[in-house]
Amino acid sequence: MCKVPVQQDHETMPSFDFCTRFKRFKLFEPSVGVLGFFLVAVCVICCFFYLDYRAVAKGYRVPNESERFMWLKLDGSSSSSSSPSSISEVNRVDFLSLEGQGCDVFDGDWVWDESYPLYESRDCSFLDEGFRCTENGRPDLFYTKWRWQPKHCNLPRFDGKVMLEKLRNKRLVFVGDSIGRNQWESLLCMLASAVDDKDSIYEVNGNPITKHKGFLVFKFKDHNCTVEYYRSPFLVLQSRPPAGSPQNIKTTLKLDQMDWSSIRWKDADFLVFNTGHWWNYEKTVRAGCYFQEGKKIKTEMTVEQAYRRSLQTVMEWIRNEVNTSKTEVYFRTFAPVHFRGGDWNTGGSCHLETLPELRVSLVPTETWELLDIVKEVLSTHSNASNGTKLDILNVTQMTAPRKDGHASLYYLGPKESPAPIHRQDCSHWCLPGVPDTWNELFYAVFLKHSSNQASNSSTYKAKV
Ligand SMILES: *[C@@H]1O[C@H](CO)[C@@H](O)[C@H](O)[C@H]1NC(C)=O
Ligand SMILES: *[C@@H]1O[C@H](CO)[C@@H](O)[C@H](O)[C@H]1NC(C)=O
Ligand SMILES: *[C@@H]1O[C@H](CO)[C@@H](O)[C@H](O)[C@H]1NC(C)=O
Ligand SMILES: *[C@@H]1O[C@H](CO)[C@@H](O)[C@H](O)[C@H]1NC(C)=O
Ligand SMILES: *[C@@H]1O[C@H](CO)[C@@H](O)[C@H](O)[C@H]1NC(C)=O
Ligand SMILES: *[C@@H]1O[C@H](CO)[C@@H](O)[C@H](O)[C@H]1NC(C)=O
Ligand SMILES: *[C@@H]1O[C@H](CO)[C@@H](O)[C@H](O)[C@H]1NC(C)=O
Repeated sequence: MCKVPVQQDHETMPSFDFCTRFKRFKLFEPSVGVLGFFLVAVCVICCFFYLDYRAVAKGYRVPNESERFMWLKLDGSSSSSSSPSSISEVNRVDFLSLEGQGCDVFDGDWVWDESYPLYESRDCSFLDEGFRCTENGRPDLFYTKWRWQPKHCNLPRFDGKVMLEKLRNKRLVFVGDSIGRNQWESLLCMLASAVDDKDSIYEVNGNPITKHKGFLVFKFKDHNCTVEYYRSPFLVLQSRPPAGSPQNIKTTLKLDQMDWSSIRWKDADFLVFNTGHWWNYEKTVRAGCYFQEGKKIKTEMTVEQAYRRSLQTVMEWIRNEVNTSKTEVYFRTFAPVHFRGGDWNTGGSCHLETLPELRVSLVPTETWELLDIVKEVLSTHSNASNGTKLDILNVTQMTAPRKDGHASLYYLGPKESPAPIHRQDCSHWCLPGVPDTWNELFYAVFLKHSSNQASNSSTYKAKV
């Protein structure tokens, strides 16, 4: 047997020697060879998915990231409609231009974009711990790098200075559940990154940002505007049951009355509603919270019926109580959750998700049932002849592929995270992350409105 030094350079190793070794290897241990190849393949795939993107980029520049990730081009609604023509369609109009008038900005794709995220969580003091995934130890950063690209037009690039100028002397109010707080905090960071003196932004009552039960009002002093959040997960009123109700009824949701806090925000200049995550059996009837209409408790009513009824109440309230010449109303449809193999309390998980879903299979079917209700109620009421003026931020479908965007194990703060594997958060979103995109869409619609108004008032002035 020839003695080839173990440390010999591969290039100088005689090829026959290599061949004989290979043959012997194959002869005696074919299964080991196959197994080895398999393991190497698995390692390569794992490395691709789990390597911190930035570490890779630092080492050597791969040809072009946006091209490399082209295969990941997603289509939230249906894969059949993602025709090649939509990929090559490069000359899209600007949403804010006149030609962009009819463009549905919620119909589009997630595309890889190097220039994201819009801010870093460590630079923003307005985030609560639960959303600071990277600081809490989440290893991958892919989820911060996706931009939303509408199919038929381009969104304006978010500019905090422009938005703050439009908000001067005004109140922008978010009302809804904790996913609404998620979005509100995202917007605070997006706006704050345009302000040099961070001390000029403060909570008017000195309250800290936490998982807040009540409300928080942040003032941007230089622009004399406030960006506020009111917690009202059902939007309608939750309070004590009528006297003499059975013991198991702890509270009721008055489906025909708005939350009491509505008095505080009905005069805001901009209102952004959301509701959805609390409309399930667990958080209502199971928890002793029944549905009520008038004086009657509706024990037979399903959660879906109650949700429909509450949305009708919200729409009627907007029509009857809100001066829509002053107040612009937005309704964000709810965001889907992504628990795999269980629910939030039964060990459902999403912590290994590092890329968006190509199909929407992880989203539970109840989501689409609730969405149908939203669609139906909103389309009836946003009918011009019925006079409820509101804009729908239609984020449910576009958000469905983003199973990679949740806080998962990284919501307990830097010391306690990661959370136990069976206590994952697959409802809330890491920031920076998906809610930033909702705010970019909000920004686009918001600017569209103000440009419409501006052009009309200037025509008006011109006529005078
Ligand atoms: C990558 O390619 C896209 C389109 O092919 C181009 O718009 C972009 O500027 C390129 N990026 C880099 C970093 O070269
Ligand atoms: C929301 O967007 C989806 C996908 O683009 C669309 O199918 C749906 O009809 C939209 N819903 C509303 C209420 O506009
Ligand atoms: C600040 O904005 C409020 C409305 O939100 C307005 O009433 C008030 O006059 C403004 N203050 C200044 C100094 O412009
Ligand atoms: C509604 O708001 C407009 C614009 O601020 C104002 O001119 C009008 O008087 C308000 N209408 C009512 C009924 O308060
Ligand atoms: C207007 O709204 C009412 C509920 O307030 C609804 O019953 C009716 O069908 C709507 N009308 C139209 C034309 O959409
Ligand atoms: C709006 O109401 C009119 C009747 O007033 C009806 O003909 C039309 O189909 C409705 N539009 C929608 C989108 O529901
Ligand atoms: C502005 O004018 C256009 C048509 O001139 C009209 O369609 C639009 O509704 C107007 N916008 C506002 C806010 O009045």
